[in-house]
Amino acid sequence: MGHDFLQTADPAFIENVRTGLAQAPKVLSSRWLYDEAGSRLFEEITQLPEYYPTRTETAIFRTHAGEMAAAAGPRAVLVEYGAGAAVKTRILLDALEAPCAYAPLDISGEFLETAADGLRADYPGLEIFPVTADFMTPTDLSSLPDCGGRQVGFFPGSTIGNLTNDQIVTFLSEAHRALGDDARFLLGADLRKSPDILVPAYDDSSGVTAAFNLNLLRRINRELGGDFDLSAFAHEARWNEAESRIEMHLVSLCDQVAQAAGQRFVFRAGETIRTEISRKFEAPALDALANESGWQVQRTWQDEAGFFCVALLS
Ligand code: AVJ
Repeated sequence: MGHDFLQTADPAFIENVRTGLAQAPKVLSSRWLYDEAGSRLFEEITQLPEYYPTRTETAIFRTHAGEMAAAAGPRAVLVEYGAGAAVKTRILLDALEAPCAYAPLDISGEFLETAADGLRADYPGLEIFPVTADFMTPTDLSSLPDCGGRQVGFFPGSTIGNLTNDQIVTFLSEAHRALGDDARFLLGADLRKSPDILVPAYDDSSGVTAAFNLNLLRRINRELGGDFDLSAFAHEARWNEAESRIEMHLVSLCDQVAQAAGQRFVFRAGETIRTEISRKFEAPALDALANESGWQVQRTWQDEAGFFCVALLS
């Protein structure tokens, strides 16, 4: 077997698979879930009856967009971390008073251009500045337009919950540095609730989340010359009470050996690869993480059931 993947694969993907599958317990970064097929499956997840976060957060934005816009102030520059939330972005843009510019930040330049084109068509007066950037590393936002309003960070979807505490502090500190002292930040965060609601949200009855999780092995096979047998692994959504998070795992259904990225990996029956964490926050934890990163939670908006919150950081 050759190593053709070395020519085409993302070196960070190779590295993550080689180290993540060699260690115990096995773990991979959730960022690899979102190839083209994975992004499509995630879109499908957001429509599932069991998956409450997207529709709940969207409703919070619809109900409170006026107050959020007032907190942002006029002539704001909206800086979105990870450009994918077109619906929520539009709700906010529609509510803002004379928005100055919209700057989506994403690692995928291609994805950014598509997102930007869609908005350009509907907001002809708005300046759009796509920035190709990994938002965990320092980014220069000083060349964004300035109409005399604030820079407002925007990170919906509870994507923050896919990060560890250390990663959250790195991300929010960097955003604070880049956006400046007068900035505001609108952060979507999923809240802690009964596992009876959480587990089905990540293990739906139609099997879409299972397909989303297993697609990671398909991607490894395709991009890293892997030979994973997808029928020998099962999706599992696990509630980790101590860490207050849902974890997605791929469970090996038998003792087996798989090859990928030029290495072989041994699996015992029942052994898992953890492929994603999805933290469910409580107010004190969110306050502490914001404070550690140079921000303060100024206020929050929630749905009536208290399933999800949008926090305003200043
Ligand atoms: C990427 C944060 C929106 O953690 O809920 C959905 C990803 N994974 N189902 C989440 C996800 C499995 C999702 N977000």
